[in-house]
Amino acid sequence: MPVIVIGSPKGGAGKSTTAVLLGTELANAGANVTFLDCDPNGSLTLWSDRAPVPDRVTVISEITEASIIKTIRAHDEDGNVVIVDLEGVASRLVSRAISQADLVITPMRATTLDATIGVRALSLIAEEEEALGREIPHAVVFTMTRAIRSKQHKGIESSLKQQGVDVIEPPLMERAAFSALFEFGGDLRSMPAQGRMDSALENASAFAQAVYKRLTAQEVAA
Ligand SMILES: Nc1ncnc2c1ncn2[C@@H]1O[C@H](COP(=O)(O)OP(=O)(O)OP(=O)(O)O)[C@@H](O)[C@H]1O
Ligand SMILES: [Mg+2]
Repeated sequence: MPVIVIGSPKGGAGKSTTAVLLGTELANAGANVTFLDCDPNGSLTLWSDRAPVPDRVTVISEITEASIIKTIRAHDEDGNVVIVDLEGVASRLVSRAISQADLVITPMRATTLDATIGVRALSLIAEEEEALGREIPHAVVFTMTRAIRSKQHKGIESSLKQQGVDVIEPPLMERAAFSALFEFGGDLRSMPAQGRMDSALENASAFAQAVYKRLTAQEVAA
């Protein structure tokens, strides 16, 4: 079953938020989800300490360079989705996680600075592909976007697409409910209402479905 790695060397790009939204939506749809918290700052561990984790979700903390591959292999079993949340750096731990991925998702804010640093994630993936001699499916998701796409956003998006980068639709919008995940723990369904919950749920669910489609397309191709 799939190993999904959420990675970008850009700090604050929305990695942990993307991981929690994706994992809790997949769990809500019936999957067993294991989060591997590989960030020494422990965002996902803090999230799991705030409230009971949703059904079918497990969080494993303090994963290191030495334990990452063993831990991924131990949890990569039928009916289980492994989601790896990485620190915003380039490190050996990051390379090792990428080497085990069925899909790498790079969250990116649609600003020039963030995109410039964010695309370094794509170079890291290309280096791993070269080392392993296999393709590592990967995609970018824009995060913290506004309802109306800025000129900058459109420009960055079309430049990525021209380079053949897979850009996940829909992007993750900037939403109070998404930032509140780390305040309340749990998921969008269990937290007290924050702004327009129906839109937040629809956005998170459509994003998770877009990711799921990529995973199933790979299985069919395999
Ligand atoms: N879609 C969103 N809507 C609103 N706020 C968001 C969204 N995505 C992320 N944030 C907020 O932006 C900040 C950074 O997000 P997050 O912690 O997910 O990024 P990160 O890439 O994991 O950061 P780090 O590199 O430090 O691990 C957090 O305060 C988070 O609540
Ligand atoms: Mg994080």
